[in-house]
Amino acid sequence: MNTAQIITEAEAFARSELGQDTTGHDWWHTERVRNTAALIAQMEGADAFICTAAALLHDVADEKLNPSKAEGMRKVHNWLAERIEDEAQLTHIMQIIDTMSFSGGGGEPMATLEGRCVQDADRLDALGAIGIARTMVFSGAKGRPVYDPEIPPRDETLKQEYRDYSKGTAVNHFYEKLLKLKDLMNTGYGRRLAEERHDFMVQYLEQFYREWNQGAI
Ligand code: ADP
Ligand code: NI
Repeated sequence: MNTAQIITEAEAFARSELGQDTTGHDWWHTERVRNTAALIAQMEGADAFICTAAALLHDVADEKLNPSKAEGMRKVHNWLAERIEDEAQLTHIMQIIDTMSFSGGGGEPMATLEGRCVQDADRLDALGAIGIARTMVFSGAKGRPVYDPEIPPRDETLKQEYRDYSKGTAVNHFYEKLLKLKDLMNTGYGRRLAEERHDFMVQYLEQFYREWNQGAI
């Protein structure tokens, strides 16, 4: 199968797997990551096919949408193995998907330029106006309040803490993860895009506290 056909089929596969999700991993998240990954890849001189394929499939394998991470990875691997003849390309795409997740405080550094582009694109979608919206939706889905001044942010570098949703708030997630992402960007172009989105979140939080405290004694 040629690369254009694989991308078209990966798009349909991701759409059918993610279409129903309402926790921030819906198809449109994938579509945005795919577009941003392609943009960063172009600016950084990375391989467009590898970046687009990995971006399209990154959440299909996600542990949150599968019985386990291993099962999610197996599903994507089997799907790719039926379509890609080049073993090195298949391994490269799987390796990007495997190391991409933020869980546990950033994980291992991405081994290739293509991986760095796709990870940056995924991180960018957690920032800015869209990042704020996704955080609120995700928090609602997990039963987290928007804000509670009596609950301080936690050290989310511990994997267990990161997936224990019961003790946090949506606003704390900005301090625990989102505001750290700007300095974790891999590529120069990704960092530039992150800075604008970062500044918007800082402004949002300032306004949030202004409204929260308005008239308070
Ligand atoms: P990804 O799979 O895209 O790397 P996650 O699954 O960790 O990221 O998060 C998906 C979306 O939900 C992101 O926008 C993220 O900021 C938000 N999110 C993740 N964990 C939390 C949390 N504990 N509280 C609030 N929002 C969260
Ligand atoms: Ni993602």
